[in-house]
Amino acid sequence: MIRILLVFGTRPEAIKLCPVVRELRARPGRFSVRICVTAQHRGLLDQVLDVFQVVPDRDLDLMRPGQTLSALTARILEGLDPVLAEETPDMVLVQGDTTTTLAASLAAFYCGIPVGHVEAGLRTGDLSQPFPEELNRVVTGRLAALHFAPTTAAAANLVAEGMPRDRIHVTGNTGIDAVLQVRDALASGALPAGDWPMLDRSRRLIVVTGHRRENFGPAFAGEMRALARLAERPDVEVIYPVHPNPNVTGPARELLGNRPRIHLIEPLAYVPFVDLMRRAWFLITDSGGIQEEAPSLGKPVLVLRNKTERPEAVEAGTVKLVGTDEDRIVTEATRLLDDEAEYARMTRVHNPYGDGQASRRIADTLETHFRRTPAT
Ligand code: UD1
Ligand code: UDP
Repeated sequence: MIRILLVFGTRPEAIKLCPVVRELRARPGRFSVRICVTAQHRGLLDQVLDVFQVVPDRDLDLMRPGQTLSALTARILEGLDPVLAEETPDMVLVQGDTTTTLAASLAAFYCGIPVGHVEAGLRTGDLSQPFPEELNRVVTGRLAALHFAPTTAAAANLVAEGMPRDRIHVTGNTGIDAVLQVRDALASGALPAGDWPMLDRSRRLIVVTGHRRENFGPAFAGEMRALARLAERPDVEVIYPVHPNPNVTGPARELLGNRPRIHLIEPLAYVPFVDLMRRAWFLITDSGGIQEEAPSLGKPVLVLRNKTERPEAVEAGTVKLVGTDEDRIVTEATRLLDDEAEYARMTRVHNPYGDGQASRRIADTLETHFRRTPAT
């Protein structure tokens, strides 16, 4: 029996690891699966656990309002020490680039437990963007024994950094497993679509999210002003599930609150959010996961960043980096609203980040790996 401990803490990690949990649990003769959540996020994490009906075996419940990176990192390291000593897994699986990802990898390393890194190898090459996620992902990669790279470009980044080729596996992104399952279930009626009484279907819908630390302050305020200008158009409606980080909620409410055709709402559970993306004319976001999901739904994305570690859809032309400058955001969004040819160019269903089978490939790879390196 291969004993796997999955450690995660935030919304995107949960969305991208729940399909892996499901796949590993579907092989009960091979894997013993345990889950420890740090709860770096509390409400956002619980929303995802509910949707996927995943119940953690351990919950460190570490989130504090307005937490700092150092304090959070210290709490995770300290909280995981006894968990790892008691669970003694054959491998710890982590996902992505959050503080939980980095601290869990480090804690496992200190305990001599191999780490498997899901969504390995994404790079901007710039430690300041995304901050601190680029560093988190680089260090996690250095600590990992197995790398599950979503794309061949991500795998090439790891090879260029000297990681052993036989430890790198191109699997696709597990987030695409999740979004394709929900998309298909919404389309077939197996999952109910929302009514959205607040939305006026005669208007074109722009779906917005944003939470990147490097954008906090003046850049974020510029983004909010750009959205306010776009919503002055009577043919447009903006819906924005606001991330609960106080650096986001404050300016979003102050600069966009109580305006016609702008709906500031609480973060949505995953299924209604996918439903909302389906209804969008296009999306404006700085989220990593949404950049990956939107192409699978055929929706254009304007990305509020100067660099992305997810270049594939930018190269394919369905995602555009527009930075955080107010005028540039308004110009690019207006083009998507008024220029039919430009809109058509950016509106294409494609799956550069995965085909929905990433979790299966990860489980297969783990089985093969532990056949060669038997679990103790
Ligand atoms: C974190 C991750 C980021 C990821 C994002 C996904 C790090 C450094 N950042 O950023 O990589 O893209 O999650 O959303 O790991 N809060 C709540 N309830 C919640 C979640 C957050 O109130 O359910 C508030 C709290 O005040 C918390 C603050 O948001 O202290 C910041 O949360 P944190 O996880 O530190 O950073 P995020 O900006 O959410
Ligand atoms: N998401 C969600 N509800 C929302 C906004 C986003 O379920 O109100 C999902 C989205 O579909 C994607 C993930 O959350 O799968 C992205 O998370 P986030 O933007 O917090 O983090 P990032 O991807 O930037 O790390």
